[in-house]
Amino acid sequence: MLEVRDLQVRYGNITALHGVSFTVQAGEIVTLIGANGAGKTTSLHAVSGLLRPTQGQIRFLGQDIHGRTPEAIVRLGLAQSPEGRRVFSGLTVAENLAIGATPWRRRGDAIEDDLDRVYTLFPRLAERRTQLAWSMSGGEQQMLAVGRALMGRPKLLLLDEPSLGLAPIIVEQLFEQIVRINQQGVTILLVEQNAAMALAVATRGYLLENGRVVLEDRTASLQAHPLVKAAYLGG
Ligand SMILES: Nc1ncnc2c1ncn2[C@@H]1O[C@H](COP(=O)(O)OP(=O)(O)O)[C@@H](O)[C@H]1O
Ligand SMILES: [Mg+2]
Repeated sequence: MLEVRDLQVRYGNITALHGVSFTVQAGEIVTLIGANGAGKTTSLHAVSGLLRPTQGQIRFLGQDIHGRTPEAIVRLGLAQSPEGRRVFSGLTVAENLAIGATPWRRRGDAIEDDLDRVYTLFPRLAERRTQLAWSMSGGEQQMLAVGRALMGRPKLLLLDEPSLGLAPIIVEQLFEQIVRINQQGVTILLVEQNAAMALAVATRGYLLENGRVVLEDRTASLQAHPLVKAAYLGG
């Protein structure tokens, strides 16, 4: 579904990605794990068109998307839930979700169907549909960010650090929903510093260090790898 090859990204004279390659097959949950600053968000932004790589190929559903606008890429069926959630704090839950509705699904019954689907997945959002986003807990705001991304009915969902700043019990509940979203047919590329949780739900993973992929494997093998165990799974 997604094939990224030899991606290089520079910010001015800093090179953030030195030739990163990864793939995501339809139906998978694939994770990019790595420490703060490893290049995870940069990789996602290159895929979603939010920044332009200096080098490399990006194919999504058989099409070359390198250099296309974020809008064009969303239209092909890709949605991103950003790091730090970025919900609109002064808007209600329902208003935030409506913003996620892509223009071509905003009319008629489509938006109602999409809202129902998100509310079924996250009943807490349904209970809070008229509540302002700023007044919700971190976990609820994260559900809203994921729900908003799902409003466009993406084929591929990019999740940037959904566990950030959340209590372990909330992270577990959220990841159960991520698995459920995947079971409903949405392919997922999950970026996480929380390697333990990410490897528990993903089928395959890539370890990024300093803008390079240093390991890639099935998650069971990564969980057993001495480097991953020592540096990312707390020994
Ligand atoms: N807008 C930016 N300007 C300059 N450097 C940046 C910018 N965004 C990220 N970087 C640098 O690029 C590297 C990768 O960052 P990032 O992709 O955000 O890592 P991660 O998401 O894994 O924490 C880091 O060294 C970071 O400091
Ligand atoms: Mg990041």
